[in-house]
Amino acid sequence: MSLTVPGLEALELAGKRVLVRVDFNVPVDEAGAITDDTRIRAALPTIRAVLAAGGQPILLCHFGRPKGEVVERLRVDPMGVRLAELLGSPVMKLDESTGTGVARAIAAAPAGTTILLENVRFHPGETKADERLAREYAALGDVFVNDAFGASHRAHASVAGIAHSLPSAAGLLVRKELDAFARVLEDPEEPFVAVLGGAKVSDKLKVVDHLLERVTALVVGGGMAYTFLASQGHTIGDSLFEESQVDLCRAALAKAATLGVELLLPVDHVVAERFVADAEAEACGVDIPAGRMALDIGPETRTLFADRIRTARTVVWNGPMGVFELEQFRAGTEAVGRALAECEGTTVVGGGDSVAALALLGLTDRVTHVSTGGGASLELLEGKLLPGIAALAPAPSA
Ligand code: 3PG
Repeated sequence: MSLTVPGLEALELAGKRVLVRVDFNVPVDEAGAITDDTRIRAALPTIRAVLAAGGQPILLCHFGRPKGEVVERLRVDPMGVRLAELLGSPVMKLDESTGTGVARAIAAAPAGTTILLENVRFHPGETKADERLAREYAALGDVFVNDAFGASHRAHASVAGIAHSLPSAAGLLVRKELDAFARVLEDPEEPFVAVLGGAKVSDKLKVVDHLLERVTALVVGGGMAYTFLASQGHTIGDSLFEESQVDLCRAALAKAATLGVELLLPVDHVVAERFVADAEAEACGVDIPAGRMALDIGPETRTLFADRIRTARTVVWNGPMGVFELEQFRAGTEAVGRALAECEGTTVVGGGDSVAALALLGLTDRVTHVSTGGGASLELLEGKLLPGIAALAPAPSA
């Protein structure tokens, strides 16, 4: 992450064919209509910068997981239509992403036209990081810009591969995301509080491990908290539990104690008999009775967590505190979201569910940075170097 990668200013853009990898993997409804265009909007500054510099943007993107085959409902035409509306300038969507037909269409496109290539995952070589495919993409451009932060944890042909063949740089979105995460991970103002939630503790233990070395306090809620509580000997009823992770939870608690980091777990819960839309919610103390499952943090925990968050100077949040999609189990996630909004320090939110919760609560504009990356932001919090970013770094001189 502390890797220095070149930005747009490092590239000659005027009169050049500029291949830009974007992340247009947006949610759609059953009819295929885009339900959230945040990721398309997030790519606009880079596309506009390329156009303003006199370059020709040629966009590569993926959509869904078509597994190397053409899947009609995963064509990226709707993204092209939405992009043209947002850009206010022409977008030409092509039905392929490589080959001589594509090269000819690019050469014939009027100046000022943004080209959008077809879903790169229709090629079997894309996710296998096929080098020949990467060179085929590279042949369509003069320079390469990675602006797909949300896909930068994938070592795929159009994400990392092209950078090996062309002068390359990070786009403005990638730069903004890296700067936001560097601010919290490399030089955080203290107190630094990390808030982790979400269903699976196994998905988050590497993040826990990495963050414990950096934070003042680690707040854990959501489904992942119950394996932690079980590892301390509490009863958790029918709540989410990953037996294989119990020792790792104990090790994390011991590490927190050794480092003098406060690791806060729920002290009470909102429980129900079953996880169904009309489930009746009840409050209970730290030990959950048999036949009940915790689906949100309880009122005392809400106050405890919100106080830590509100008074922090740096907060990073990934994962909801409960099943916030159901109103009766939303209060915990809402309390965390509101405390972040009230915090005067730097607040960074990543992960699809916490970002969706912020949007549901109308709090998106009240935090410092909302990441466009789910898996990518999680890997940064684990301390990993993202392949799509690493590929942009100049090769070390011998
Ligand atoms: C995402 O939606 O997180 C990114 O677009 C990456 O998609 P993927 O998980 O299918 O690689």
